[in-house]
Amino acid sequence: MVREIVVYPDKRLKLISRKVEVFDQKIHALLDDMYDTMIAKNGVGLAAIQIGIDLRAVIINIPLEEIDNEHSQPKENTLEMINPVIIEMDGATHFQEGCLSVPGVYEDVDRAKHVKVEYQDRAGNTHIIEDDDFLAIAMQHEIDHLEGRVFIEKLSYIKRKKFEKEWKKRQKTL
Ligand code: CO
Repeated sequence: MVREIVVYPDKRLKLISRKVEVFDQKIHALLDDMYDTMIAKNGVGLAAIQIGIDLRAVIINIPLEEIDNEHSQPKENTLEMINPVIIEMDGATHFQEGCLSVPGVYEDVDRAKHVKVEYQDRAGNTHIIEDDDFLAIAMQHEIDHLEGRVFIEKLSYIKRKKFEKEWKKRQKTL
């Protein structure tokens, strides 16, 4: 089911999400709704808080091809991460990021180049994944949401000011 996206500056985006303790039908339904919502909004990643649920669950689905088509993000390719923890990070890179909670805004953000992340799947089994490419950026972006952080907060003071001004202007015209 497609759920409504929580949009910046909604205060819920500042919440520190709670650890998932029970891997039951409820969490499965949440993950399924997150996938439906991410696909409907043309996203590549989503944290539960972005649909208003403060649980430590994120999904990432990097399109198979550059071309947009309905089959480029099959559900079975979705990386579902529950209680993800970055256990290693090093190097530096930057990437132009966007976020479904800040629609239409794309800004260059500094990130670690390589991360290793421990997480649980929907059955509660523990996995470790590491990456030094786009997935590494996406994991850092989504895990930030669990700590109540949105990517625009990582911008320089001047860029942030400019963003806030333009965002307010845009909110008024909506
Ligand atoms: Co985001």
